[in-house]
Amino acid sequence: MKNADLMINPRVLLAIESSCDDTASAVFVEGEIRSSILSSQEVHSSFGGVVPELASRDHQRRIVPVVEKALEQAGVSRHNVDAIAVTYGPGLAGSLLVGLSFAKAFAMSKSVPFVGVNHMEGHMYSVFLEENPPAFPFLCLTVSGGHTELTIVEEGFRHTRIGKTRDDAAGEAFDKVAKLLDLGYPGGPKIDQLACEGNPTYIRFPRTNLPGYDFSFSGIKTAMLYHLGRMTDEAREIEITQHLADLCASFQAAVIDMLLATTLRAISETGLRQVAVVGGVSANTALRAAINKAGIEHGFSVHIPALKYCMDNAAMIGVTGLLKLRAGITSPLSLNAQPNLSV
Ligand code: KG4
Ligand code: ZN
Repeated sequence: MKNADLMINPRVLLAIESSCDDTASAVFVEGEIRSSILSSQEVHSSFGGVVPELASRDHQRRIVPVVEKALEQAGVSRHNVDAIAVTYGPGLAGSLLVGLSFAKAFAMSKSVPFVGVNHMEGHMYSVFLEENPPAFPFLCLTVSGGHTELTIVEEGFRHTRIGKTRDDAAGEAFDKVAKLLDLGYPGGPKIDQLACEGNPTYIRFPRTNLPGYDFSFSGIKTAMLYHLGRMTDEAREIEITQHLADLCASFQAAVIDMLLATTLRAISETGLRQVAVVGGVSANTALRAAINKAGIEHGFSVHIPALKYCMDNAAMIGVTGLLKLRAGITSPLSLNAQPNLSV
């Protein structure tokens, strides 16, 4: 629902995110972030991935304490909340429904404006949580567990996706390779940490470079699988024991090379001089360093959220909700969860 006359500038905005396995809430006062609470579910780590049924049950258990903590830390009463923003997709249906139902009930009981936020837009606008956000238009590289996309972001929530992964997302590749190396879930942070100590030239994994701006990460996962699979059990154990950091560094270097090559080509061909890198994988130490270095070398500005806003969080939903409300965009209380929502 869009109507410029409805332009809303709430004093206190409550934001909620529950699309996957993190229950999160944030509070903004006069447009400034005052709290961002995240409660991560440990229940999935032994399964090597998120179990949807367990995730929704856990959200149900955590949502009230998480919202209460966000309000308490922001120093505001729930009676003073005058707008609410919530993720309505994409994500796991059962998980989305917990946050969305809570937010709708809250908005209805308080008669306050309510706005549904696309989780991927939340990542894209997470750079507006930083002191120097990009000006429109900018190029956005979204790298998360489910998405790897290049998008041109223009004012007025106009997005043109110019490239996407044809198979695995970058985060998914990190998670799958971590599983092969027995590192648990999620694998990205562990590979990142180990890679800092490793040799990125230990193995030269293949770099897939597709025409246009699409990505492909399934080849690199398969290359790691072949590398380990052709060894005897004993040799594989020795390889993983002695060269774990080198394997992580070599894999990570290949992923970063692929992300960077396509992004640099998009910068050069679109002429955009501002690049945002968002989503869970934007927390990666080597990726941050590589894109910052490229920005200096090629003369474009780089915008990456603070580490705490790279992975799923409610602050990014809040800042996107604020931008939408200020543009006169609200949602009807009939809004339903949309697990397959795209940008
Ligand atoms: O954005 P996000 O929290 O959730 C989704 O919307 O998917 O991203 C999660 C993904 C996971 O695949 C995780 O392994 C990856 O981000 N990730 C990382 C790092 N931290 C999280 N990948 C590489 N390096 C990291 N430091
Ligand atoms: Zn996400």
